[in-house]
This record gives sequence, C-alpha cells and structure tokens, in this order.
Amino acid sequence: MKQIGGFQSWCLGVTLQLIIAAVLHQGFATVAPPTAAPYKDPGRPEKGNYQVNGTNGTACLLASMGLQLNITFNSVSQNKTVQDVVNIQPNVTKYSGSCDPDNATLHLSMDAEKTNLIFFFTLNTTSNKYHLSEVSLSAAWPDMKEPFSTRNRSLNYLQGTLGYSYLCREEQTLIVDQYLSINIFQVQVQPFGLTKDEFGAAEECQLDEDDMLIPIIVGAALAGLVLIVLLAYLIGRKRSHAGYQTI
Ligand SMILES: *[C@@H]1O[C@H](CO)[C@@H](O)[C@H](O)[C@H]1NC(C)=O
Ligand SMILES: *[C@@H]1O[C@H](CO)[C@@H](O)[C@H](O)[C@H]1NC(C)=O
Ligand SMILES: *[C@@H]1O[C@H](CO)[C@@H](O)[C@H](O)[C@H]1NC(C)=O
Ligand SMILES: *[C@@H]1O[C@H](CO)[C@@H](O)[C@H](O)[C@H]1NC(C)=O
Ligand SMILES: *[C@@H]1O[C@H](CO)[C@@H](O)[C@H](O)[C@H]1NC(C)=O
Ligand SMILES: *[C@@H]1O[C@H](CO)[C@@H](O)[C@H](O)[C@H]1NC(C)=O
Ligand SMILES: *[C@@H]1O[C@H](CO)[C@@H](O)[C@H](O)[C@H]1NC(C)=O
Ligand SMILES: *[C@@H]1O[C@H](CO)[C@@H](O)[C@H](O)[C@H]1NC(C)=O
Repeated sequence: MKQIGGFQSWCLGVTLQLIIAAVLHQGFATVAPPTAAPYKDPGRPEKGNYQVNGTNGTACLLASMGLQLNITFNSVSQNKTVQDVVNIQPNVTKYSGSCDPDNATLHLSMDAEKTNLIFFFTLNTTSNKYHLSEVSLSAAWPDMKEPFSTRNRSLNYLQGTLGYSYLCREEQTLIVDQYLSINIFQVQVQPFGLTKDEFGAAEECQLDEDDMLIPIIVGAALAGLVLIVLLAYLIGRKRSHAGYQTI
C-alpha cells in the first residue's frame, strides 16, 4: 500500500513537473524547440467519391476512398525536418483525370492547386490486369522551406482484373518514397472496363481475406473440439455399458 502511495505521489510530482514545464515552454517557445513527435493524429480521413468521365460522358474511372498523406519535409517554423500526417478533405478537393485504352489518371487538387496528387493506373492488355503504377505529389505549403515534389513510376499497388473493381476494407499504406507514404482507407477503385456509372463486381484484397481467415480457423478448431468431446462421450458410454454387461 505504502509503495503504491509512493508511486502515486511520484506520478503526481512528475505530472506537476510536466505541467510546469509545459507552462514555461509556452512562454519560451521560441527559445526551446519541441523535441516530441511533431505531428498530431488527424484521425480517420473522410471518404471521397471521385469520378472521371470519358469522351462519351459516362464514367471511365471510379474511386471511393479516404486518403491521408504522411509527408516528410523541411519546416520553416521548426527549422528542421518534420513529419506531418494530413487528411485529404473530399469536400474541398477538386478532381479530374483522363482515360486511355491502357492507362488512366486521377488528379486530385487541394488548396487552390497548391497540392496536387496524381494516381496513374496501367492496364496490361495481355493479361487483362491493372494496377496503380505511378503516384506523384507536389505541394507548396506555407510551412515548407521549399516546394515538395515527388514521383515514383515503378509502383505496383491496387492490382485488379479488367472489368472488376478493387476493394479493400482494411487500411493500406502505399509507400511512394522515403518522404511520402499514403494511408488509404476503405478503397474501392476501378480504372478500366466500366460499363455503367458504377463499379463492376469487387475483387477483395488479400488483407481482407486474411482477416476473414481468422474466424474460419477459430470456427474449424471449435468444431473439431466439439467432435472430440462427442466422440469421447460416446466411447465412454459404450465402455460403461460393456461394464454393466460383464457384472
Ligand atoms: C463510353 O466509352 C467507353 C470506352 O471509352 C465504352 O466502354 C462505353 O461502352 C461507352 N458508353 C456508351 C454509353 O457508349
Ligand atoms: C508515417 O511514416 C512514418 C515512417 O516514415 C511512420 O513511422 C509513421 O508511423 C507514419 N504515420 C502514420 C500515421 O502513418
Ligand atoms: C536553422 O538551423 C540551422 C542548423 O540546423 C542553423 O544553422 C540556422 O541558424 C537555423 N536558422 C534559424 C532561423 O533558426
Ligand atoms: C469540409 O468538411 C469538414 C469536416 O469534414 C468541415 O470541417 C469543413 O468546414 C468543410 N469545408 C467546407 C468548405 O465545406
Ligand atoms: C463526371 O460526371 C459526373 C456525373 O455526370 C459528375 O458528377 C462528375 O463531376 C464528372 N467528373 C468530372 C471529373 O468532371
Ligand atoms: C497513355 O495512353 C495513351 C494512348 O494509348 C498514350 O498516348 C500515352 O502516351 C500514354 N501515357 C503514358 C504516360 O504512358
Ligand atoms: C503483361 O502480362 C504478361 C503476362 O502476365 C507479361 O508477360 C508481360 O510482361 C506484361 N506486360 C507488361 C508491360 O508488364
Ligand atoms: C519506388 O517504388 C519502388 C517500389 O515500391 C521502390 O522499390 C523504389 O525504391 C521507389 N523509388 C524511390 C525513388 O523511392
């Protein structure tokens, strides 16, 4: 009891010190730069629905997803490299794009064109499989010492089959390079082979299937257990019957 009390007062002391430090820190913010993790969790991003139309006016690319940028850049206010996690807000995002027989783009822009995110999909017309092959981001935020710009043309994410949509309920992280990764939530996308203004049948991602596997394994194990108990009971009953008969 005494030990716990001691621990509690130690905690209280530490907390007080932290509060005092925080208060002091407010006053001397310009003197002592913060050492803690610079980014604050922005929460789950809202889901956006994006549609690119072909020349005949119907949808040729459909995407529905929540997007979060995890970006490393040189901060003016903190005078050092920081990592920031930023949600893309669908209600202030403009979208456009293009559709060609074997490639398609989705172009998202925010902050009056100061942030531009482009997804480039490729279709292999031999295997009839598509994938996200390129991502580029340019951003000129007030806190950036120099404009951010990156592009990776050798990616292989969101693989699907022509005529089907790619679906993933689990969160996925698309690593673009060492300065940028994109967290993508509840994605359904189809960059090729749309017939109406709606998604084709969904092909579920591996992550979701793995998720489904666990309950199946647990269920099978339980069924096995029930069977063993049942067998044991039946055998036991037979033995005791045999016992009675010999007496
Ligand atoms: C529109 O064009 C696409 C190819 O770009 C085609 O697959 C689709 O059937 C066309 N839709 C209509 C209504 O003509
Ligand atoms: C952002 O990326 C870094 C690695 O570059 C990782 O440690 C961190 O967990 C990521 N944050 C989020 C919210 O994805
Ligand atoms: C920023 O940091 C560098 C060293 O990391 C230092 O030389 C420079 O004076 C700092 N600039 C400001 C404005 O604090
Ligand atoms: C966009 O949505 C967010 C909440 O998700 C809200 O805070 C913001 O005011 C909205 N902006 C506009 C321009 O509607
Ligand atoms: C495509 O058409 C739909 C419905 O007609 C519209 O909501 C959407 O904004 C169009 N997409 C683009 C990129 O203009
Ligand atoms: C996309 O496809 C069109 C038509 O096939 C082609 O002209 C264009 O060069 C392609 N774009 C890229 C970046 O491969
Ligand atoms: C398309 O797929 C075929 C069969 O899987 C493969 O041999 C070929 O290299 C692929 N083409 C491209 C450009 O990736
Ligand atoms: C681009 O992505 C590929 C595949 O994820 C990776 O191997 C490569 O290092 C990336 N390029 C850069 C410049 O980071």
